Amino acid sequence: MQEAPFQTPFKLAQQWLAEAEDGEVNDPTAMSLATVSADGAPSLRMVLLKACDERGFTFYTNFESRKGTDLQENPNAALLFHWKSLRRQIRVEGRVEIVTDAEADAYFASRPRTARIGAWASKQSRPMEGRFEFEAEIARYTTKFGAGDIPRPDVWSGFRLVPKYFEFWRDRKFRLHERKIYKLNDLGQGWDIEEIYP
Ligand SMILES: Cc1cc2nc3c(=O)[nH]c(=O)nc-3n(C[C@H](O)[C@H](O)[C@H](O)COP(=O)(O)O)c2cc1C
Repeated sequence: MQEAPFQTPFKLAQQWLAEAEDGEVNDPTAMSLATVSADGAPSLRMVLLKACDERGFTFYTNFESRKGTDLQENPNAALLFHWKSLRRQIRVEGRVEIVTDAEADAYFASRPRTARIGAWASKQSRPMEGRFEFEAEIARYTTKFGAGDIPRPDVWSGFRLVPKYFEFWRDRKFRLHERKIYKLNDLGQGWDIEEIYP
């Protein structure tokens, strides 16, 4: 497929995401998120991309989870998309910022009711006695909110990774792959583009 001459790496990422929506069986918006704790220990997990625009890549989570704690202590992070069916990956590196309350409220309100209750009931990444404990919390919040509104918990919100670096990797025959890099220039206003050896 012929690629348009993209002005920004965001537009290219959006095109690849759109193609993944068509070509990937499960979770085309799933991405690995790498964080580093205050004492320098890296960790990885999957999250779902909820927005990609010229500001960055947004995902939502519990701010008291391991990733939430890491990112509040050290905002440096990396994302990786890998679409097996398309044989492509995108690497993104940068720093996270916290989304506005209005953005988080709007996304939270769009989630199914049971998922909103789950956000209240789950003390994500902390020890639990057993599944019964979680189920009891779900029952407690289901009763508490009844048929009324479910507000967003204070500890549940979004991070936006604001990129400084992108790599678009595409499979080519005989492992002679393509790698295209976009680096934010020193003024932070434009992108330097280069290709690197596979
Ligand atoms: C495909 C997939 C998508 C996921 N999406 C999210 C997500 O958007 N937000 C989230 O908090 N956890 C998500 N999870 C769960 C995380 O991978 C992880 O188990 C959880 O957030 C706790 O991570 P932590 O202890 O490093 O904070 C997802 C898991 C998978 C497999």
